[in-house]
Amino acid sequence: MQADRGFEELRTSRLRLRRSEPRDAERISAYRSDPEVRAHQGWERTDPDHVRGEIQEMLDRVPGQRGGWVQFTVETVEDEQLVGDVGLRVAEDEPGVVMVGYTMAPAAQGKGYATEAVGALVEYAFETLDAEVARAYADAANAPSVRVGEKVGLVVVERFDGHDEGVTWHGVRMERRRAPDPR
Ligand SMILES: CC(C)(COP(=O)(O)OP(=O)(O)OC[C@H]1O[C@@H](n2cnc3c(N)ncnc32)[C@H](O)[C@@H]1OP(=O)(O)O)[C@@H](O)C(=O)NCCC(=O)NCCS
Repeated sequence: MQADRGFEELRTSRLRLRRSEPRDAERISAYRSDPEVRAHQGWERTDPDHVRGEIQEMLDRVPGQRGGWVQFTVETVEDEQLVGDVGLRVAEDEPGVVMVGYTMAPAAQGKGYATEAVGALVEYAFETLDAEVARAYADAANAPSVRVGEKVGLVVVERFDGHDEGVTWHGVRMERRRAPDPR
């Protein structure tokens, strides 16, 4: 894995991914507090102060270095609207594996933004961070999330039962392996 200290931004045809900054906290807090979004995310607190603190902590990390999530704010190129956030982290005991996560504001869902942003993030993980495997975990019942994984080339490699406060849920682990170097 290669650490990328010089990260500036990633671009797709419609989106820009930049490091999340404390000034994003209010907007990220707003959609992360939506019950539908919260239900699929691990953040226990989503109030602006807490989100600001999390962002500050993540901003101190370097993409490709072990030790926690690095988050990117997703904005439209055309009118600089903040539409969501994506993130990556190097898996704890598997240094060639990069995990990706994704969240889009409800008003921005269904436009292919998550697919576009996560696709760029996966390519970045392979090409710049030199990851061998890109991985995402999802609730099997979270059809849009599983679909986004599929659309960026991840395939379900494991199904498992998770337990959360006495409730059992069915999870999937989705992965894509870096294509072999043609040279
Ligand atoms: C998952 C999430 C990021 C997707 O964002 P998005 O920008 O709407 O995703 P896209 O538009 O790129 O693609 C969504 C895909 O799911 C499909 N989809 C949406 N609702 C669906 C449903 N109920 N059943 C089946 N497929 C569904 C869409 O049709 C689309 O696939 P298609 O292009 O083949 O038609 C967004 O729904 C979200 O933030 N959810 C809450 C947080 C979350 O679940 N994060 C992932 C945790 S692992």
